[in-house]
Amino acid sequence: MGLDERLPLLDGRLATYVNLDNAASTPPLREVLDAIGLFLPYYSSVHRGTGFKSRLSTAAYDEAHDTIARFVGADTSANTVIFGKNTTEAINKLAFRYPLAPRSVVLSTAMEHHSNDLPWRGRAQVVRARVTREGRLDEDDVDRLFAAYGERIALVAVSGASNVTGFVQPIHRLARKAHAVGARILVDAAQLAPHRRIDVKPDDDPEHLDYVVLSAHKMYAPFGTGALVGRRDTFLQGEPEYRGGGTVEIVTPTDVHWAGLPDREEAGSPNVVGAVAMAVAAQTLMNEGMDNVTRHEVSLTAYALEQLRSVEGVTIYGESDPGQGQDRVGVIAFNLGSSPHALVAAILGYEAGIGVRSGCFCAQSYVTHLLGHGAEQQARWRRKQLAGDRSGRPGMVRLSLGAYNTPEDVDALVTMLRGIGRDDYQGQYYQVAETGDYEPAGYADAFHSCFSLTGPETRPKR
Ligand SMILES: Cc1ncc(COP(=O)(O)O)c(C=O)c1O
Repeated sequence: MGLDERLPLLDGRLATYVNLDNAASTPPLREVLDAIGLFLPYYSSVHRGTGFKSRLSTAAYDEAHDTIARFVGADTSANTVIFGKNTTEAINKLAFRYPLAPRSVVLSTAMEHHSNDLPWRGRAQVVRARVTREGRLDEDDVDRLFAAYGERIALVAVSGASNVTGFVQPIHRLARKAHAVGARILVDAAQLAPHRRIDVKPDDDPEHLDYVVLSAHKMYAPFGTGALVGRRDTFLQGEPEYRGGGTVEIVTPTDVHWAGLPDREEAGSPNVVGAVAMAVAAQTLMNEGMDNVTRHEVSLTAYALEQLRSVEGVTIYGESDPGQGQDRVGVIAFNLGSSPHALVAAILGYEAGIGVRSGCFCAQSYVTHLLGHGAEQQARWRRKQLAGDRSGRPGMVRLSLGAYNTPEDVDALVTMLRGIGRDDYQGQYYQVAETGDYEPAGYADAFHSCFSLTGPETRPKR
């Protein structure tokens, strides 16, 4: 949806929006919106109502769990699918529940998103395997950590694909190593699920993935849902994280019998529409064929790398060889000469209608490491930021491809980058210290011409 939307530029022209920010959120699939449109007239409460609409909604909600299990190849006799808000919530839920002893170690990597790092801090000693200059996991370092910590390692917590360099981690090899020391593995699949077929493999396979988490808004279903797929026995231990309606079987003034799974971990009225949307997106991707999605994206990523490398002054972080596309998803972080990343991103947005992201992408430690910033430089920037001035914030520009992007989208970006490299752009930009963002002088977004919460839509003339 919205791929052919023509939106206003700085000079007043309209241009078709080019979304190269899929790693943050993808646009909705038309199939998802169509299905939600068909579902909403029947939407009602789930699990507790006896009316036709409640029975239908309950059936759809239950089926959504099964669809997500199928999407990752999970056997539902031993595994459960728990719906929540997003990947971040799912990892926090696992961090709350996962049994960790005082000396337990969580083995992770230096390339993790904050959402797969912060929840583990304070719960266990977190050790992080190094990443090579090309953005690959240093598997020798992984082996060193396994040898050093052995059975103290309770969990291996890794992203399926990096949201900075796009590197796809060797998750099944890591699973084998984790299981060999009696640990389990969590795969943060937020960046993997929209791009690669995930197969958790049978539970007794040494390469089995014990827990997988994913976000619907990164896989074309923006209705506020994420899923945690994992071993049932983990979530049957102890009391539910949140307690209340929906989590119980029996309640007396003094006693509680908790419900089974997934109910006990989905407290309160669930986001039924979000779950249905996520399931429709997953089913659509399966129908389309994840291998076809991958094939298209691998070739487009190679093209994007080739084109970017031809732009004078571009530095690509991580692997930049177009021939190494199998090991990465279409997430490419770069800088352009000495131009501030936030300025480049602003010009792309305001002057060409190209949506990218700039900054540290919720992976501050990793991004500053890739930038080669030393401790002193980082400390200086931290002091400034904590004083409320984000103008010197470190970062990169990130383009991220989705299944619908085309070579023309890449060409539009590259043409603009060449111009920016020659200081050939229209606006006079100033930086807002509180945000670190650049804005063009004398320009105000006219959002109301596209959408307004308070008034009727008045679309710009095409
Ligand atoms: C690798 C990775 N993990 C976790 C997350 C967090 O996802 P969410 O914001 O949907 O919770 C993101 C989001 O960008 C991500 O890229």
